[in-house]
Amino acid sequence: MNDGDGTLAAKAQGRQFGPLGTALVIIPTYNEAENIKTIVGRVRKAVPEAHVLIADDNSPDGTGKLADELAAEDDNVQVMHRKGKEGLGAAYLAGFRWGLEHDYGVLIEMDADGSHQPEELPRLLTALKSADLVLGSRWVPGGRVVNWPKSREFISRGGSLYSRLALDLPLRDITGGYRAFRAETLKGLGLDEVASQGYCFQVDLARRAVKAGYHVIEVPITFVERELGDSKMSKDILVEALWRVTAWGAGDRVAKLTGKDKHTP
Ligand code: GDD
Ligand code: MN
Repeated sequence: MNDGDGTLAAKAQGRQFGPLGTALVIIPTYNEAENIKTIVGRVRKAVPEAHVLIADDNSPDGTGKLADELAAEDDNVQVMHRKGKEGLGAAYLAGFRWGLEHDYGVLIEMDADGSHQPEELPRLLTALKSADLVLGSRWVPGGRVVNWPKSREFISRGGSLYSRLALDLPLRDITGGYRAFRAETLKGLGLDEVASQGYCFQVDLARRAVKAGYHVIEVPITFVERELGDSKMSKDILVEALWRVTAWGAGDRVAKLTGKDKHTP
C-alpha cells in the first residue's frame, strides 16, 4: 500500500474522529530500577490526566518493587507483574489487553529509560485527535536523536528503510517505540495473532495498522539515549526482526500475485 496518491489522507479528511477518552501510558520494564521513578514522575507531571501501567518482567534488579511503591503513592499508577523476561512485544500485548479491558480510550507505548520524553506526549495526543495511530518519529523533518552512537543510528535507519521497502509502508520510523493508539485501532489489529517478541513487534503493529487502512501519522520527536542502565538490544532481537520482516514481505508479495491481498478497512 502506498499513500503517494493521498488515498489515506483523503480518507482521513472525510472522517470524523471521536473523542479520545482517558489515556493509559504503558511502560515495559526490565532492569530499569535507576529510571522508573524519574520516568513515572515526568509522565504524571507532563500529562496529569493520563494513567500509567508499568509492565515489569520480574526484573532481577528490583524494578517491580519500586514500581509497587509508586503505585502505593498514586492511584493513577498500576503495576503488572509478569513471571519473567518474555520480550517487549509480550509485555505490551499484556498491557494493551489490560488497558482495553479497563476501557481506556488511548493506549500509549513509552520506554522507561527517558529516551521518549513525556513532555512531548501532549503533541502526540493532539495529533491523535485526527488519526487512528500516531508514531513518534525520529526520521521525519524535525525529528532527531541525541547521544546515539553512529552504529546504533545506522541499525535503526537501516531497519526502518528495509521494513519500508520490504513491506511497502509509507512510513519513516517503523521500529520506534513511542506511539499513541486509539483503543478502536488496537481492537482492529488482530492482537491475538501477534507473535513478535522483540523490537520487530513495533514493525508488526505498524504494518497491521497500514494494512487495515487506518490513518497513521508520524510526529517528529527528539529521542534521547538513556543515561542510566543498559539497552536490551541483542543479536537475537535483530535476527528475529530480520527474518520476520523478510517473511512478511515475501508473504505480501505472494498474496499480491495470487490476488489475495484485498481487505476491507
Ligand atoms: N517487560 C519487558 N520485557 N520490558 C522490556 C523487555 C522485556 O523483555 N525488553 C526491553 N524492555 C523495556 C526496557 O526496559 C525499556 O523500558 C524499553 O523496553 C525499551 O528497551 P531498551 O533496551 O531501552 O531499547 P533500546 O533503547 O535499545 O531501543 C529503542 O529503539 C528500538 C528500536 O528503534 C526503543 O525505543 C525501542 O522501543 C525501539 O523498538
Ligand atoms: Mn532505550
